[in-house]
Amino acid sequence: MNCPYFKKCGACKYPLDNYEASLKAKVAAISQYLDVEEVIANPQIYHYRHKIVYRFFKDQGQVKAGLYAEGSGKLVAVDNCLLEHPLGTKILKAVLKLANHYHIPVYNPLNGQGFLRYLVLRISKNGHANVCLVVGNMIFEGSRHFVREIKKACPEMVNFDLLINKRNTTIVLEGTLKTLFGKGYLRDNLGDFQFLIGSKTFYQVNPSMADIIYHKLRQRLKVTRDEVVLDAYCGIGTISLYLAQEAKKVIGVDINPSSIAGAKANAVLNNCHNVSFIASDVKDLAYSEDYDVLVVDPPRSGLGEDFIKMILDKKPKRIAYVSCFPPSLKGDMTKLAKAYTFEPVTLFDQFGFTDHMEALSIANLH
Ligand SMILES: C[S@@+](CC[C@H](N)C(=O)[O-])C[C@H]1O[C@@H](n2cnc3c(N)ncnc32)[C@H](O)[C@@H]1O
Repeated sequence: MNCPYFKKCGACKYPLDNYEASLKAKVAAISQYLDVEEVIANPQIYHYRHKIVYRFFKDQGQVKAGLYAEGSGKLVAVDNCLLEHPLGTKILKAVLKLANHYHIPVYNPLNGQGFLRYLVLRISKNGHANVCLVVGNMIFEGSRHFVREIKKACPEMVNFDLLINKRNTTIVLEGTLKTLFGKGYLRDNLGDFQFLIGSKTFYQVNPSMADIIYHKLRQRLKVTRDEVVLDAYCGIGTISLYLAQEAKKVIGVDINPSSIAGAKANAVLNNCHNVSFIASDVKDLAYSEDYDVLVVDPPRSGLGEDFIKMILDKKPKRIAYVSCFPPSLKGDMTKLAKAYTFEPVTLFDQFGFTDHMEALSIANLH
């Protein structure tokens, strides 16, 4: 398949008609600096993105939404992206139709005027959708009618949140959240578990691959019944719940209080009693807790100097490192090498045709 936006929008780095070639090129690039043992291809080559973020903009009097063009701040309206779940396009079209019909203004961060900023969609594996409309101002006359119209056009929508984000930063999901329809979350099944996912919480963009990653992590880490695990950067507790089946206890930590609230709800939902969750920066917590095994799944920037120092002092027996940015994994491996030996890496093509890959390695204390 070919995409008319290739090289215009910045999402894909490899032509979309040859998946094997794109995977080979990515693995070759990463193998130059990491010892790669295993590569797991994307189980679904196209339409694997279940989280989609569109930014609104105005073009020739029309409200449009799209993605950034490569290497520039320019936005490109993308219709029918081959990476995104098709329901995303359907919801986007319904939102744009209404926005143009009611002349809803696009937010201007320079003067704080206007309304529409981003549309953030999350779609469950069974095809239900959470819609989060990120706006720059609170007053949204006719909001109930707007939501009713979206629901009529897209019955798959199970939740609609309005997120009022007035801050002039590039962080999309911050501000005050108001649920206008639904229970305030989307429900998804992963492995043996169900997860409730709120608009402001992290959840992997490619859930089918997330299940494969978590299984592989559990298989390679081999946690035993007498071990306590610290799941740093735990999000809504996905890895914590997978590991709790084998561990004595799992403690999850995340800096985002919404994620920790979600993780606690997910533990209850799944009848999981040997987990606890704490809202904290990992570097403020990891000294005070006792644990045998550490799991880290940090943002692209990696672990940070303070946390690395803490790991080297605390010396857990094993570390599972899940990384969405292999260069950071490499840098952190080097810093931890004085106390740990890292096993070869498993690569997961979680983000097919882009230049990103997910990586997993297990480290053992010398
Ligand atoms: C890549 S996500 C991983 C989430 C989870 N492991 C999963 O697979 O769904 C990274 C998470 O780290 C959290 N985070 C970022 N910086 C943090 C910090 N300094 N301390 C604790 N959590 C942090 C974010 O809120 C986010 O939930």
